[in-house]
Amino acid sequence: MKPGPPCRNGPSHVAIIMDGNGRWAQARGRPRLYGHNAGARRVREIVETCPELGVKYLTVFAFSTENWKRTQTEVAGLMSLFRRYITREARVLRDQGVRVRFIGDRLRLDKKLVTLMDELEEITANNDLLHLTVALNYGSRDEVARATQRLARDVAAGRLNPDDVNEETLPKYLDTYVLPDPDLVIRTSGEARISNFLLWQSAYAEYEFVDTLWPDFNRDLFARVVRAYGRRERRFGAVTA
Ligand code: IPE
Ligand code: IPE
Ligand code: MG
Repeated sequence: MKPGPPCRNGPSHVAIIMDGNGRWAQARGRPRLYGHNAGARRVREIVETCPELGVKYLTVFAFSTENWKRTQTEVAGLMSLFRRYITREARVLRDQGVRVRFIGDRLRLDKKLVTLMDELEEITANNDLLHLTVALNYGSRDEVARATQRLARDVAAGRLNPDDVNEETLPKYLDTYVLPDPDLVIRTSGEARISNFLLWQSAYAEYEFVDTLWPDFNRDLFARVVRAYGRRERRFGAVTA
C-alpha cells in the first residue's frame, strides 16, 4: 500500500466502533456469526483505504469486556473468528506495511489466541505505513482500573511520586500509551453511544454516528466520513477568531 495525498485537515487517528453485525445477519435470516464473518471481511477494505486518506492510526473495537455476556456459542464463535482472521491476514498486513497492536486485557483470552496476537505484533513491529490497533477484550473502565493498579504499585514501590500524577503521566499507564488520541470516532449501526470505548483518549475527539451496519460500511462511506471531518472546527475549549 502507498500513502496517498492526505485529505486537507484530515484526521490522523480514526477509531471505529464496528457495530451492527448481528442485525445485518438477522435481516438475512442468518445466525449472528454470519454477520461477524461479513464484518471481519470489511476490516481489510478499511485498512487499505486509510493510507489513501492520510489516516496514520486506525483503532477498531472488536470485542468489549462486556461482550462476554453474550451466549457461549457467539463468544466461542467470535474467538474462533479472531484466531482465523489473524492467521489469514498476518502476512498480508505485514506485507502492506501495517503495524498491528492489540489493546485490552489478554488474561481472559485463550492462550492460542494470545500467542497469535503476540506473533502478529512481533512480525509487524518494524512497519510504519499504518498503525492498526485492535481492541480485543477491551473496556475503558477496565483499562483505567488496570492502569491505576500499576500506578499504585509504582507509588508503593517509591518509583512514582503522587505529586507527579497528572494529565501527562497518567496516560502512560493506559494500554494506548504509545498512540496519539483519536481525532475522529466513528460508530456504525445507528446507535449513538460509546459503549466503554477509549473514554479518556476520546475526550476531545469528533464523533460520527452513521446508520449503516458494519458489514455494509465500505470504502466510499469511510472516505465520505473522513472528508466530512475536515470541515469541522475543533476548539479544545478555546475561542477561535
Ligand atoms: C458488533 O456487532 C460486533 C461485536 C460487538 C463483537 P454486534 O454483534 O453488536 O451487532 P448488533 O449490534 O447486535 O447488530
Ligand atoms: C460495542 O458494541 C462493542 C464492539 C463493537 C466490539 P456492542 O454492541 O457490544 O455495544 P452495546 O451493547 O450496543 O452498547
Ligand atoms: Mg451491537
